Amino acid sequence: MDIIPSPHLVVNSFTLCQSWRFDTCRGFVYDLVMKNIIRQTTEFALHIVRAYVDPGDVVIDATCGNGHDTLALAEMDPAQLYAFDAQESAVRATTNRLEANGYRDRISSGRIIVECLRHEEMKRFLEDTAGNGGSADASVKVIIFNLGYLPGGDKNITTQSETTLQALQASMDLIQSDGLICITMYSGHTEGKEEKTALLSFTEALDSRKWHCAYVSMPNQRHDPPEILLITKKP
Ligand SMILES: C[S@@+](CC[C@H](N)C(=O)[O-])C[C@H]1O[C@@H](n2cnc3c(N)ncnc32)[C@H](O)[C@@H]1O
Repeated sequence: MDIIPSPHLVVNSFTLCQSWRFDTCRGFVYDLVMKNIIRQTTEFALHIVRAYVDPGDVVIDATCGNGHDTLALAEMDPAQLYAFDAQESAVRATTNRLEANGYRDRISSGRIIVECLRHEEMKRFLEDTAGNGGSADASVKVIIFNLGYLPGGDKNITTQSETTLQALQASMDLIQSDGLICITMYSGHTEGKEEKTALLSFTEALDSRKWHCAYVSMPNQRHDPPEILLITKKP
């Protein structure tokens, strides 16, 4: 005797199967594209940065470290990417990461420049490399800072309030209208705490007719989680 499934069963199985495929697909797309961005501050910062960068822009990573953020910026296809760090070992790590991910040609062509340079010097560096002795003011779409020390490196070599403020001042000259300065701050160590206090009082005093600032904090997390400071120049 043939077993003929009832139309009801067929429809239900089909619906189940469709819904399983939809959920699996949705989960996959979610993992790939959406990520739960508020769970990880660095991912949250990059998510915001992606909304500002268009292919063809000039962007800067002011603390390239092990190159994770630099690689994320390179993937946004900027016309020019500068990555700076005060440590030679960070420059090597960033260069290796970019090369391992297919960006060797862009480094050779100068479209990506990874330089051992203190970020408080970046304005002068851009003016020198821009040629024509020209000003680099208002030429950059996004500048990111991920403060603190190199993970896995010497914890004594860390960003410091005074020079970070100098670098921020330089960034404010370099940034375009509607461009973004994105700073990830770590207050779990002494210099980081001072740096956060200095940055917050500096931004609180900025002229609200010229600058718009936002501060992202994670109030219920323990152990001084990282925080994000965002600054954009009004047109
Ligand atoms: C938290 S790490 C950056 C991590 C990096 N964004 C990444 O994706 O791996 C901070 C970096 O800032 C660098 N640094 C400290 N003071 C600096 C300065 N004055 N100018 C530029 N880089 C500096 C350190 O050498 C360190 O590599």
